[in-house]
Amino acid sequence: MKKILFVCLGNICRSPMAEFIFNFMVKERGLEKDFCAFSKATSYEEEGHGPYRKALLKLAEKGIPTYGHKSSRIEESDYVCYDFIVGMEDYNVKNILRIVKNDSQKKVYKLLDFCGGGDIADPWYTDDFERAFCDIKRGCQAFIDFLQGSLL
Ligand code: 4NP
Repeated sequence: MKKILFVCLGNICRSPMAEFIFNFMVKERGLEKDFCAFSKATSYEEEGHGPYRKALLKLAEKGIPTYGHKSSRIEESDYVCYDFIVGMEDYNVKNILRIVKNDSQKKVYKLLDFCGGGDIADPWYTDDFERAFCDIKRGCQAFIDFLQGSLL
């Protein structure tokens, strides 16, 4: 079982959306024994809070199941617990690397690296949850294709 940690700034919008979308897609492909996703923040800003209402509404609109989740900050020790640590934008990756100290095993990625690059714009600021959903879905699809390839 490979464990994936999605990371964003607050862990109430993008990274929990990525966790729910990824786990749903993994189940659809019958890969739930191979991969499981979790999510954390780079800040303590939303510590203990559940996903933002507008993120949950967008997931419900798209038929993605959700479950209880509370924001927590990534810690240095998470580097050994997870096989992949995936940020949403360059700023997240910079903060992840600052917290885990060094990426000696090349576990740290940015989600859209798997489909040509780019950042997932933060819907907390843009209020564009449709755009965030579509970009995260596109990234998760490409990431799972990549992971599935590693099983061959
Ligand atoms: P997220 O969005 O990183 O996609 O969860 C944010 C949510 C809350 C805050 C920042 C970003 N905040 O500073 O409270």
